Amino acid sequence: MIHVNDEMKQFHLTNGKISYIFHVMKNGQLGHLYMGRALHKEGDYSHFQAYDNPAPYSTHVFEDDPSFSLETVRQEFPVHGKGDFREPASIIVDDQGEFISDFVFKSFEVVEGKPELDGLPAAFGDKGSVQTLKVSLLDLTANVGVDLYYSIFADLPIITRSVRVVNKGERSVKIERLMSLTFDLPDADYEMLHLSGAWGRERHIRKRKLEQGLQSIGSIRGSSSHHHNPFLVLKREETTEHQGESIGVQFIYSGNFLAQAEVDHYETTRVSMGIHPTGFQWKLEPADSFQAPESVLSFTKEGLNGLSHSLHDFQRHHLINQKWMERERPVLINNWEATYFNFNEEKLDQFIDEAKDLGVELFVLDDGWFGNRNDDTTSLGDWYVDRSKLPNGIGELAKKVKASGLQFGLWFEPEMVSPESELIKKHPEWVIGSVARSNTLGRNQRVLDLANPEVVHYLYEKISAIIEESDLDYIKWDMNRNITEPYARSVRNQGEFFHRYMLGVYDLYERLTTNYPHLLFESCAGGGGRFDLGMMYYAPQAWTSDDTDAVERLKIQYGTSLGYPLSTMGSHVSAVPNHQTLRSTPLKFRGDVAYFGTFGYELDPSQLKQEEREEIKQQIKFFTKHRSLIQQGKFYRLKSPFIDSETAWMVVNEDRKKALIGWYQPKNMPNPPGNRVLKLKGLDESLIYKVNGHEMQLRYGDELMERGLALPVEFNGANHQAQRAGDCQSIIFELRSD
Ligand code: GLA
Repeated sequence: MIHVNDEMKQFHLTNGKISYIFHVMKNGQLGHLYMGRALHKEGDYSHFQAYDNPAPYSTHVFEDDPSFSLETVRQEFPVHGKGDFREPASIIVDDQGEFISDFVFKSFEVVEGKPELDGLPAAFGDKGSVQTLKVSLLDLTANVGVDLYYSIFADLPIITRSVRVVNKGERSVKIERLMSLTFDLPDADYEMLHLSGAWGRERHIRKRKLEQGLQSIGSIRGSSSHHHNPFLVLKREETTEHQGESIGVQFIYSGNFLAQAEVDHYETTRVSMGIHPTGFQWKLEPADSFQAPESVLSFTKEGLNGLSHSLHDFQRHHLINQKWMERERPVLINNWEATYFNFNEEKLDQFIDEAKDLGVELFVLDDGWFGNRNDDTTSLGDWYVDRSKLPNGIGELAKKVKASGLQFGLWFEPEMVSPESELIKKHPEWVIGSVARSNTLGRNQRVLDLANPEVVHYLYEKISAIIEESDLDYIKWDMNRNITEPYARSVRNQGEFFHRYMLGVYDLYERLTTNYPHLLFESCAGGGGRFDLGMMYYAPQAWTSDDTDAVERLKIQYGTSLGYPLSTMGSHVSAVPNHQTLRSTPLKFRGDVAYFGTFGYELDPSQLKQEEREEIKQQIKFFTKHRSLIQQGKFYRLKSPFIDSETAWMVVNEDRKKALIGWYQPKNMPNPPGNRVLKLKGLDESLIYKVNGHEMQLRYGDELMERGLALPVEFNGANHQAQRAGDCQSIIFELRSD
């Protein structure tokens, strides 16, 4: 998979699906040659470099060769201050303030498999399925090295890259910017797609055309954020969901990030992904090294669905804990929207009994079980049970839950502390923030200094005591505020704080997941404020959004699926009127939307009418019947809620004999056209599928994909049943080929 042309000093990573090619340029620095569909592995591609493009006034490296300008060549690890005026991969300064910029090629090494990254979540893979190329660069003057790690995965159009800076010199240096991935594309004829939004409407798909200049998304909030996701897509204008070129870049990191496309004056595009340089500065003493997180790159010609498939497959086989990929995730009920902080043992006993009766498998007790927490102003940090609510303790509650045949889960928000808490009184130095100036609150809370190993240790002890006392099966790990006044007493150089904080979060996750391997983690940050690959490495599922309204969820789940598989998306049915939008939607519609994710409920079963109880029982039966298909299958987006008045998607299993299709019409359509069909994808064209188990509805795969699956009669033509049914109609189709 990794081919090195020693003579041409050219590196070609290819697996028949993708090619990533770069070389050592005339000046010893690395030039980028190609990224795209696989090319012949034997070829010499050095002519791809645009050396002979001297422009008036452009800089040139050699006195006798004005054609070689860093301003115009396409690069692999561009630096600042050497005649390339685009944004660099790195800014590293020596102790005199001079930029360290002469990173020239020294050596390379090919290793089988995938090395781990110190303290960071990273992709994994065994020797047969991944190869890694390490390319070492060195600035001879400062004796500072840069190691670039490239991994290529068999059968996937995916390359990952990470960067390590090593100070081999005798003086300290400062890293002010270090992108994990940078490469230059030869043109700028792209649209940039990204997932953006806010609390309650995360990961909506946004699109803009690339223009000369910078177009970037990022976060400096201390988490990857609700607002932007560490994921960028460049696609051609003609690329659709089903065909055409697209490039996807993701980041295996949960903190501040920058994802950027810069178009220069020659219409070339520099793509960058890395830790956000704002507020970042890392001091490297002699013999120290700094490991930047890993980024992921994918290229396909199979449209956006094709891009999603390769990213989903990569995450499922090389990022998410394999045990949780294989194991079926439990149908859960969470008491948050049912009770908020207002519960006691009696209420929970009833809740548990009723949940069990519905067929739920896991009961999750959300916020409010600890300290003295009756609203969101107190007790974060005091991780012991509130005996006024649960007089017999958490262990006893857990026993009851388990005795009823359910699994037991608890909510924690480990990274936070309330100003009104015992922990803050005892350890004010564990809170981040300014000592001299005022500090900003967010949801009435402050942030603990997870850069401090003592804090991580304290949290580990507290959480593990509860895990053991209650024989816990599941943890919802929340994080409900952004980080301000990023000053930590445990950190010497405050520019390091944000990253050290993330390393502390990962350390805590690492310890808990290693010592309690049976525990299922669901990450959460005020809903989907930290929905990223860093979290996913530890927590195989995430609470997609606090917005549980099914109409809103169509957009959120559709958008999220661009980058992440269904098995990662927590999706629950909640009560109506919905608590976020006050909208009332049919229970069927809510279930039909929530099936496509890790399914559960967020409501009070005691408030259900008898017919609703029966319907929920059927929903759970339906979901568990199709759970492995939903969790393991290939997901296709068919109709977009961002474009169409209908939304449709489907999931197909590996042998293409089973499929489940969801069709949704949030607003009723008067006088709908006749012959409404849904063109399906991913089926086997020669198989005959039985639609919804009807012996009379046998359809060939080719018909279903080419002509389409007809919507039922009530949604077709001048039929008045649909009008009577009102808004929020949905249909689930089951296809099976025996
Ligand atoms: C956040 C989460 C919710 C819930 C509350 C509890 O908002 O996203 O699901 O857990 O906190 O306070």
